[in-house]
Amino acid sequence: MKKFNFHVKPIGLLDMLHFKQMVPRRRAMLQSGSLDPITSVYAVNRLAQSMHPKRQKAVVSAIIPRRDANTYVLKADKLAYFRAGQYVSVKLTIGDAVTARPYTLAASPARALEGEYEITVKRAQDGFVSDYILNNWEVGTEVTLSGPEGPFSYEPIRDEKEVVGLAGGSGITPFMAMARAILDGTEDFRLTLLYGSRTKADILYADELAAICAATDKVKVVHVLSEEEAEGFEHGFIGAELISKYAPGTYTLYICGPRAMHDFLAGELDRLGLDQKHIRREFVPAPASPAYFKAYTGDASRVYRLTVLALGEERTVPLRADEPVLTAIERAGIAAPSRCRSGECGWCRSRLVSGQVFIPDSMDGRRLADAGAGYIHPCSSWALSDLTLEIFPE
Ligand code: FES
Repeated sequence: MKKFNFHVKPIGLLDMLHFKQMVPRRRAMLQSGSLDPITSVYAVNRLAQSMHPKRQKAVVSAIIPRRDANTYVLKADKLAYFRAGQYVSVKLTIGDAVTARPYTLAASPARALEGEYEITVKRAQDGFVSDYILNNWEVGTEVTLSGPEGPFSYEPIRDEKEVVGLAGGSGITPFMAMARAILDGTEDFRLTLLYGSRTKADILYADELAAICAATDKVKVVHVLSEEEAEGFEHGFIGAELISKYAPGTYTLYICGPRAMHDFLAGELDRLGLDQKHIRREFVPAPASPAYFKAYTGDASRVYRLTVLALGEERTVPLRADEPVLTAIERAGIAAPSRCRSGECGWCRSRLVSGQVFIPDSMDGRRLADAGAGYIHPCSSWALSDLTLEIFPE
């Protein structure tokens, strides 16, 4: 049998003395302390608040027009630092509605240290908020933002040094931040980006991407056109074949694009046999109707009644079955908390007091305990009956 030799130091006289004096010494230290009450705001909390503010104000300092989109440069004395790939939620009051939309920060995080963010807003079909911003924001407009949010950013402990990015349309913005961060040394990984656009003219940030590729061999961009034939471009939709053609040996896959792109890629990624731990997906906003989901069995043409309980007050408002519950609350001018608007972040977490909702599996980001206790995320829930909901305003 193996023998272990433990050397236990015998307790000496000095140790005994030290032990004996321990309590009187502590008592003396406590008595010599300041009589001032302990501050209610600790320095570390102040630091955390400045890094993760709930609200930030900024001013539009420049507008870069693009096809069906504008890039807005936002300035402030101080803006919270962020990780390349994160977003801010832009708070807006449009007519009677109080709403918010997430927009990815497209500049390098290094620019935040100079008090500058950049977001790009693309005109969307039936785009209530995007239309408002594109039609109303001008240089000098003051805007209210959340702090930076979201997990769609490179993590060196978790991710491979080689990253393959799949972008569709305005889903290019997190990759712009990543490419710019790689160029200025804020991030250290290699990015191969497959970027799908309808035509050459639809490519956002075309010149900026070309300039980055010319300046560093750590970023490579492959443009894929779905509705135009052009020399030097790939064609069709981004799928397993194209990914295999350009991807390096071992890589982490990042995906950001419209819902249709995610749906198409689901089968393609199976063909690649990639482990799920190597796939990162940016949140996908709610579709135009719950009928988009096969599991939906409700009647999307119905209009129900929603009773909202908030801060001891109660209001009943119309509730369209074809819109997420959050939209009905906002349309009534009730300021409900939200960030991602895709079921993931939990900021809109509310208590369903009564009624039935449809929550698609792919958008159910609730913790199990919350789901069991009757909490829902109204941004990813659709009414199947009249509802009573308790919300928790920020
Ligand atoms: S806003 Fe993120 S879960 Fe609803």
